[in-house]
Amino acid sequence: MTVDLSVDLGRGLVLPNPVGVASGTFGYGFEFEELVDIQRLGAIWTKGTTLLPRAGNPPPRVAETTGGMLNSIGLHNPGVEHVATVYAPRFARWRVPVVVNVAAGSLEEYVAVVRRLDGVPGVAGIELNISCPNIAHGLDFGRDPAAAARVVEATRAVTGLCLVVKLSPNVTGIGDVARAVCAAGADAVSLVNTYVGMKIHLGVRRPVLPRAGTGGLSGPAIKPLALAAVAAVRAAVRVPVVGIGGIASAADALEFFVAGADAVQVGTASFADCGAALTVLDGCAEYAARHRLERLTELRWTPPADRAEPSAAPTSVR
Ligand SMILES: Cc1cc2nc3c(=O)[nH]c(=O)nc-3n(C[C@H](O)[C@H](O)[C@H](O)COP(=O)(O)O)c2cc1C
Repeated sequence: MTVDLSVDLGRGLVLPNPVGVASGTFGYGFEFEELVDIQRLGAIWTKGTTLLPRAGNPPPRVAETTGGMLNSIGLHNPGVEHVATVYAPRFARWRVPVVVNVAAGSLEEYVAVVRRLDGVPGVAGIELNISCPNIAHGLDFGRDPAAAARVVEATRAVTGLCLVVKLSPNVTGIGDVARAVCAAGADAVSLVNTYVGMKIHLGVRRPVLPRAGTGGLSGPAIKPLALAAVAAVRAAVRVPVVGIGGIASAADALEFFVAGADAVQVGTASFADCGAALTVLDGCAEYAARHRLERLTELRWTPPADRAEPSAAPTSVR
């Protein structure tokens, strides 16, 4: 029996396999070209790209935590013009689809970046990072279903590319945000982005990361939280779901398929082993062959009909 690993995310974006590398953990792919066979990846999801180049936050920008890491990179990137004119022609020579992750501080900036990338050869799709602070209103777009929907509606209007909306887990009802962005025109959703966290340096009695003191938590520590979020979103929407959060092995990725994912991304694990995503891919393919699966989505768990929709919000009271 042959396993069909391809994943159709909609609007012409068909990934050759479901295992990609997560935004911000693989740059734009160039540094890794010499080290691993990037052409075998399901997709490269690029660093968050903004309208203008950004130098990012001053160091320290990362800190190790128990079972994970905190980052406060501050969207260090060369800006969309550079990506469209210098990087994209290189992407176009690759077999691996490159999905450009877009970040912005205003609705107008989101629209300008997405419009610039539309129709650029080498850009296979857009991943819209809505976890960005809204400069005008001070709240992340992704924390408010109505604001998230406005961003998706406005960007949908200026691109024919597949629009994958990356959801923030720092919300009470992630299913509600997922429903809102899908109603506004998202082709697929990806989740989770990092959880807000803090590390304290007791010696100097202050947070390790400068500025607000907080950063984004990623790595194995967030995997159970991410699985719950994926299950909640799977129950809320019908579009393809790309699962992210603490995946470091094939078993981790397979758990995401059970929870409801159609594809996955490997993030923090690539820092320890830049071939981690390929090891995950090979392990998933081997598992599918061994268990005679035609598609990995056959692993999907369906919650019993008499149970409440899985919720990523706390339900246990102790
Ligand atoms: C250093 C670092 C930089 C990141 N930069 C971005 C980014 O620019 N845009 C984005 O949407 N997510 C970004 N992320 C979030 C990851 O893409 C991913 O959603 C998150 O780390 C959870 O996956 P993981 O536990 O496998 O790392 C970043 C994560 C890390 C660790």
